[in-house]
Amino acid sequence: MAGDGHDPKPDAESGQNTWGGRFSEPTDAFVARLNASVGFDQRLYREDIDGSKAHAAMLAQQGIISAEDAATIRAGLDAVRAEIDAGDFAWSDALEDVHMNVEHRLTARIGAAGGRLHTARSRNDQVATDLRLWVLRRIDGDLVPRIDRLQTALLDVAEAHTDTVLPGYTHLQRAQPVLLAHHLLAYVEMLDRDRGRLLDCRKRAAESPLGCAALAGTPFPLDRVMTATALGFTRPMANSLDAVGDRDFAVELCAAASLIMVHLSRLAEEMVVWSSQEFGFIELGDAFATGSSIMPQKKNPDIPELVRGKTGRVFGDLVALLTVLKGLPLAYNKDLQEDKEALFDAVDTVTDCLEATARLLPTTTWRADRMRAACDAGFVTATDVADYLAAKGVPFRDAHHVVGRLVGWCIAEQRTLPSLSLAEFRRFSDAFDDDIRRAVTVEASVAARTSRGGTAPKRVAEALAAARARLAERR
Ligand code: ARG
Repeated sequence: MAGDGHDPKPDAESGQNTWGGRFSEPTDAFVARLNASVGFDQRLYREDIDGSKAHAAMLAQQGIISAEDAATIRAGLDAVRAEIDAGDFAWSDALEDVHMNVEHRLTARIGAAGGRLHTARSRNDQVATDLRLWVLRRIDGDLVPRIDRLQTALLDVAEAHTDTVLPGYTHLQRAQPVLLAHHLLAYVEMLDRDRGRLLDCRKRAAESPLGCAALAGTPFPLDRVMTATALGFTRPMANSLDAVGDRDFAVELCAAASLIMVHLSRLAEEMVVWSSQEFGFIELGDAFATGSSIMPQKKNPDIPELVRGKTGRVFGDLVALLTVLKGLPLAYNKDLQEDKEALFDAVDTVTDCLEATARLLPTTTWRADRMRAACDAGFVTATDVADYLAAKGVPFRDAHHVVGRLVGWCIAEQRTLPSLSLAEFRRFSDAFDDDIRRAVTVEASVAARTSRGGTAPKRVAEALAAARARLAERR
């Protein structure tokens, strides 16, 4: 197969391959099908046309093609775009990919000028340019706004629940009470890092490969800064071999997408568990749950389950992409055509999952009563009892032991810590005074955790305000 990237002008009439000059046999039909990427890369048409328009304008400015040809090409490309937008475009597998489909149609519409567009360009720098533009647009238009939206949804729930307390867990065992707002703010933090990773990836994606041609550059006197600027890139890429062979930006985006999915899947898992009858901490809205075809009583958390389940495919996309790139010799290789489906799938999936989670939160009922009951039944203030004794001068290790025995006794007697009388406390240590009865409440436990980053209402109120301010600044 041809693969040098310098495609001669498309021959609209003969139906021959654009690169057919060197060949004496037509392409085998099976080979043509396997080789074609137009089925999935046609979604790059806007980026492809924007790139071509910038390239044509630059060729004219540099005197490489005439101003009339450039104007004809640009108007022709707009017309092709309108055809595609309207769904009036006949994509052809025989024309392999989006680039040749668009160029072929352009030449069919405007004639000879269309054949000048590919001067000083190759599909190798063209596809790399298209893909980078697509990445920038999806980060700006889909991913970052959806992260902001999900953070807003989390903050809305958190602000409505500033005095809802639930057990914090370690090892999924009830550990210490925390505010629901504090728990949800943990996800706001994760999403802040996710957003930072997307913007960091954006910086490196925002360099232009256009003008590097097939691999070595071109003898034509290009102005690569002009095309880079016109397309919204910060600068041209420095090395032509790197420019056409690099897909680091796609890996970085899939890696960022994978971590977003890690975070979404943790929240999803909590929502699945919390909506179970065993926990009963939340009830999903009817519009966001489904029933069973056989068990009439069921209300299933399909949406968070799907978010959790779709995480695997995004990880798969990342590994697929890394594996395509591993060991590839410089510069362009057809293997790189395999980058697109993985990248598209990762971005589409994470976009949907961010959207689903942002919509799920406001339709959920948060059962403060059930959360509170789990605290009351769970010895979640045992640490506070030990801290109390330590503050009274009992060495913490001894205090820990005393409270361990106390909890063991409560379990055997089916008692809870807040239900104990002072006399009962004093059976385990005479360091207990009447103030233990207050120290052992869930409210006191939460209020005491005033260390920076802790769950005390005061700290949580500050964290909520800071998160709101960060979100407001982004607008
Ligand atoms: N469809 C190709 C891809 O996605 C475009 C670049 C083809 N270049 C070539 N020399 N065959 O990678």
